[in-house]
Amino acid sequence: MRRFVYCKVVLATSLMWVLVDVFLLLYFSECNKCDDKKERSLLPALRAVISRNQEGPGEMGKAVLIPKDDQEKMKELFKINQFNLMASDLIALNRSLPDVRLEGCKTKVYPDELPNTSVVIVFHNEAWSTLLRTVYSVINRSPHYLLSEVILVDDASERDFLKLTLENYVKNLEVPVKIIRMEERSGLIRARLRGAAASKGQVITFLDAHCECTLGWLEPLLARIKEDRKTVVCPIIDVISDDTFEYMAGSDMTYGGFNWKLNFRWYPVPQREMDRRKGDRTLPVRTPTMAGGLFSIDRNYFEEIGTYDAGMDIWGGENLEMSFRIWQCGGSLEIVTCSHVGHVFRKATPYTFPGGTGHVINKNNRRLAEVWMDEFKDFFYIISPDKKC
Ligand SMILES: *[C@@H]1O[C@H](CO)[C@@H](O)[C@H](O)[C@H]1NC(C)=O
Ligand SMILES: *[C@@H]1O[C@H](CO)[C@@H](O)[C@H](O)[C@H]1NC(C)=O
Repeated sequence: MRRFVYCKVVLATSLMWVLVDVFLLLYFSECNKCDDKKERSLLPALRAVISRNQEGPGEMGKAVLIPKDDQEKMKELFKINQFNLMASDLIALNRSLPDVRLEGCKTKVYPDELPNTSVVIVFHNEAWSTLLRTVYSVINRSPHYLLSEVILVDDASERDFLKLTLENYVKNLEVPVKIIRMEERSGLIRARLRGAAASKGQVITFLDAHCECTLGWLEPLLARIKEDRKTVVCPIIDVISDDTFEYMAGSDMTYGGFNWKLNFRWYPVPQREMDRRKGDRTLPVRTPTMAGGLFSIDRNYFEEIGTYDAGMDIWGGENLEMSFRIWQCGGSLEIVTCSHVGHVFRKATPYTFPGGTGHVINKNNRRLAEVWMDEFKDFFYIISPDKKC
């Protein structure tokens, strides 16, 4: 039996060498004849390498399907981050994505002199592959002269690979990547504020830790801020499937609103906004509120409006708070439809909220209502009477 296996190995290996020889023979017999031909036969080889690259798992934003045999393991791993970690780990950190922009966006020309930006990314126990794919997509798809630095703010993660391993890894990247550690679990808002305080760019761009920026995402955002520094801009948020990591283009026909429970909601862009833009969908949409994960803001304007409400805990409500603050402090909030950034949307949060999820969000929403809503806060208290303290 053993001998049989041994024979098979020997046979397979020699077969491989025979194939290599045949390849080499064919290659050289053809190429040595003239240099011109050499060039021509090299090109297909190169092309093959490139196209193989585009055929790796998840390349061009394609879905990754896990074979049946690995499904049990996949389900186990899913629980760690509430997304398909096995799929994410199979995909290259620099995977290719489709160009999902409107045709009119692809030919737009932006001024050379744009403000530069720091990109601030807060993470808490994020997966290695999603965090670094975010960083790579920023570095590979942004003109480097516009990218001041990437700042990773660690909100007291417990995973070992996010400590020294991460620090050593980012040292080799082409753009300065700074890591800031919160001493204790502080929540999104306070961690973002720390990142903003440490940043040097003229614009601050906040991203979530499981995003992928697409071709040309940054220039239209910065160009809009250059035109009007009081404009706070969001990209279109594309959907990265939490099950397959498939990349799906988001719509330019929805914008942000809210209901009287003070939940953020997407709504269709109304006709008046289409009319204001004379039907040109490549122009920015004025949006009442933003989802909050991804936006760019002029640093000085951010300080002028008093940054975030640092009294808010962990997560929830801060996106509406920032939206109300911007509109009521002389600014405006827009979705720049030529800029696309993908985001992994999860069905459940993997995070623990010290004090309980409901309690934290209620507290944040009460602050939002009391500070910014004047008499309209009554709608909130009528809909949610138990929220009054
Ligand atoms: C990703 O990086 C690898 C290694 O540097 C490179 O060979 C590959 O072409 C890159 N992929 C894309 C899609 O740029
Ligand atoms: C960003 O732009 C400002 C103003 O032009 C400049 O002083 C600064 O050096 C730039 N920062 C980086 C990192 O390019």
